Amino acid sequence: MSRRNAGGDDDHPWWKEAVVYQVYPKSFNDSDGDGIGDLAGLARRADYLDDLGVDAVWLCPVYGSPMADNGYDISDYRSIHPAYGDMDDWRQVRDVLHERDIRLVMDLVVNHTSDEHEWFRRSRREEDGYADYYHWWEGEPDEPPNNWESIFGGPAWSYDEARGEWYLHLFDEKQPDLNWRNSAVREDVHGMMQWWLDEGVDGFRMDVINLISKTEGLPDGDPEAGLTGAEHFMNGPRVHDRLREMHDRVLDDRDLLVVGETPGASVADAREYVGPNGDGLSMVFQFEHVTVDHGDDKWTTADVPLAEFKEIIAKWQAGLADEGWNSVYLSNHDQPRMVSRFGDDGEYRRKSAKLLGTLTHTLQGTPFVYQGEEIGMTNAPFESPDELRDVEAKNYVERAVEHGEADCYEDVRETVEATARDNARTPMQWSDDTHAGFTDGEPWIECNPNYAEVNVERARSDPDSVLSYYRELIALRHERDLLVYGEFELLAPDDPDVFAYSRRLDGERGLIVLNVAADATSFDVPAEVDRDGLELVIANADDAPATVPATLDLDPYEARVYLTPSQEGGVGR
Ligand code: NOJ
Repeated sequence: MSRRNAGGDDDHPWWKEAVVYQVYPKSFNDSDGDGIGDLAGLARRADYLDDLGVDAVWLCPVYGSPMADNGYDISDYRSIHPAYGDMDDWRQVRDVLHERDIRLVMDLVVNHTSDEHEWFRRSRREEDGYADYYHWWEGEPDEPPNNWESIFGGPAWSYDEARGEWYLHLFDEKQPDLNWRNSAVREDVHGMMQWWLDEGVDGFRMDVINLISKTEGLPDGDPEAGLTGAEHFMNGPRVHDRLREMHDRVLDDRDLLVVGETPGASVADAREYVGPNGDGLSMVFQFEHVTVDHGDDKWTTADVPLAEFKEIIAKWQAGLADEGWNSVYLSNHDQPRMVSRFGDDGEYRRKSAKLLGTLTHTLQGTPFVYQGEEIGMTNAPFESPDELRDVEAKNYVERAVEHGEADCYEDVRETVEATARDNARTPMQWSDDTHAGFTDGEPWIECNPNYAEVNVERARSDPDSVLSYYRELIALRHERDLLVYGEFELLAPDDPDVFAYSRRLDGERGLIVLNVAADATSFDVPAEVDRDGLELVIANADDAPATVPATLDLDPYEARVYLTPSQEGGVGR
């Protein structure tokens, strides 16, 4: 490949130097007017992605599915859901991306399938070879096997009348968990991965991959320890064996990006997944920094405590600096919009969106940009529960009312609007045309009403837009190894408003200063920072000084990046 994705040796693989763009296909671009985004629609936007400068696309599930969880409930791993198109459309996406040096990473959802998958149908009938494909448990219909809770709320077990047994589902009841102890299951999964690799995919994003191994005997969990049962299924006993086997059989000796989604993983766990002696994953998605504002669960939230947030980021930066590699993200299809959560989606929408982008592109690790983040898309209003589409949000509202925690939707509306996953799933805002230029039909979920102001068309022609800034950030990231590989050091850890850090690689140095507050402030550059030779390379304010003063006067949400000039012959270039 040419201008991007160079990488090349074991220490500098392409995916360390890449910026990845996440596409949630249902909401990206609809080509046929049925209100659902599709692959032909994505192919039409290849130039947009090329122009933005990203190196890879992570495509959320597009496989055969009854869509109980928008495709994370797969009924056929080797076909495309008709609403998205067919395999020819998929190959077209692959080809238009590859022609632009953009790699394609597929979502791999193998902790569970849909209950409409052929394997589950056969298992339910106890057909030869399939009886143990899932976690079944004999018992009375009113006595679930244990007290585990589903991540979507309620018990993690449902009784299947057809088989007369209970089955485990850590998510929706339409998402039964596969039994990874069964070697036939593992072989089927490996075969399916191989099939996609033969189709030319460049990697996998592995959905909740650290949940695949459950404690033998499926014992009760401690109800006081957060999600009940988690200690028996998160980072479970055989998870590393399973991943190593997958690596040896399928992934070894290939130039792939393999990112595991690992809720509840600590730095020590992550090192086992990604470290030099680990399971062969390129990186993981850890959750600590996106649960920092949660109380008992995601529906009880507080303001983001900056000092704690910085400490978490610094811990992960240091923890994987020599052993492994970080992914860097603030948003995805499961999180509220980052500008509404970590920034200010009112007066400072543009400024704070740029600041947050500055953060994700100047940490050590691979930045992931979630669709719409690059134009500063915000959380959406959900005036009635009928506007919600996500099974998790709908369950939450239903249970809150059922359990008497709320009298009606209005009582939980604020919580829903701050936290629901549907915030991230409103249609991509392409223009100020009807339905944001996303579809000619009726969108499957309402557009955010702010699309007249926040849209790609408008941002494209505005040099001061969030989009223009992201383009610059991504280009800068490609130019400077310092930003990719440089050592990270947190400065002024206790400053409640300013997130400042240095980067260092061979003779090159960087200083990044972010005022994560809606008030102006000043920042005294710590004595350990050598200000000499540092020059401003990007900022979200016009009047930022070109060199580093002893004290920086910072406007609300002001972000500045100072680097020493690039030295010839640096690492990787
Ligand atoms: C994590 C995915 O990101 C999320 O969208 C999905 O609901 C669950 N895993 C279950 O597959």
